[in-house]
Amino acid sequence: MVGAPGRGAIESRLQALRAELGVDACILNGENLADGVGITPRLADRVLAAGADVITLGNHAFRRAEIGDYLDASQRVIRPANTSVMSPGRGLTVVPAQNGTRLAVINVLGSLFLHPATSMFEVIDGLVETARLSTPVIVVDVHAEATSEKVALARWLDGKVTAVLGTHTHVQTADPRILPLGTAFITDAGMSGPHDSVIGVEVELAVRRMRTGLPVRFETAHGDVRIEGVLVECNTESGLASSIEPVRVPIS
Ligand SMILES: [Fe+2]
Repeated sequence: MVGAPGRGAIESRLQALRAELGVDACILNGENLADGVGITPRLADRVLAAGADVITLGNHAFRRAEIGDYLDASQRVIRPANTSVMSPGRGLTVVPAQNGTRLAVINVLGSLFLHPATSMFEVIDGLVETARLSTPVIVVDVHAEATSEKVALARWLDGKVTAVLGTHTHVQTADPRILPLGTAFITDAGMSGPHDSVIGVEVELAVRRMRTGLPVRFETAHGDVRIEGVLVECNTESGLASSIEPVRVPIS
């Protein structure tokens, strides 16, 4: 979700979309909720009230100082597991889905441009092992810039988790698929927010900064708002996925 347009779209449409698609659990990435960068406790609460079961974050997780204590206390809002061990919050949570299944969600950060404290490849095995103690249904949000890192992580986790879903680049990729051993994967789940933009930012501002190299204060765009994501179906006993379909809903 990006900014007020992304949150507005979720608040107005998520409940109906959940019913229409028969969704048992919904994971949203919320690191761009607060004017495009970061998340506040108030915004997190609003999105949870709108129907999200878990909110994941990314490289902007700690942009708003007030989110620290909230992350320490929350089981529903997680930050990348491979940030500093001294940072607030957790990178893995287990929540009940609507059908009674337990759902584990893991959030990790890729290395290219994003500077995690440790490589996601160093921490992922331990996280999956811990999640498996609670449930076979495990979804990994891999928040990363490089498509190669996301594909490599997904191939490493194939058959070990339900889904590996990419975020951060805001452009839904055309590669949703079930990997050979039964893990659902997409390189980028897309963006719920304004698509008449440069990945959520007003076009003129983003272009000006890139053309001139001068500092330009970014503002969230407003046009062509859409909800984007993926719908994953899985076997709740094996945890393996049977389908992954893109979701693209025009809002305004
Ligand atoms: Fe990001």
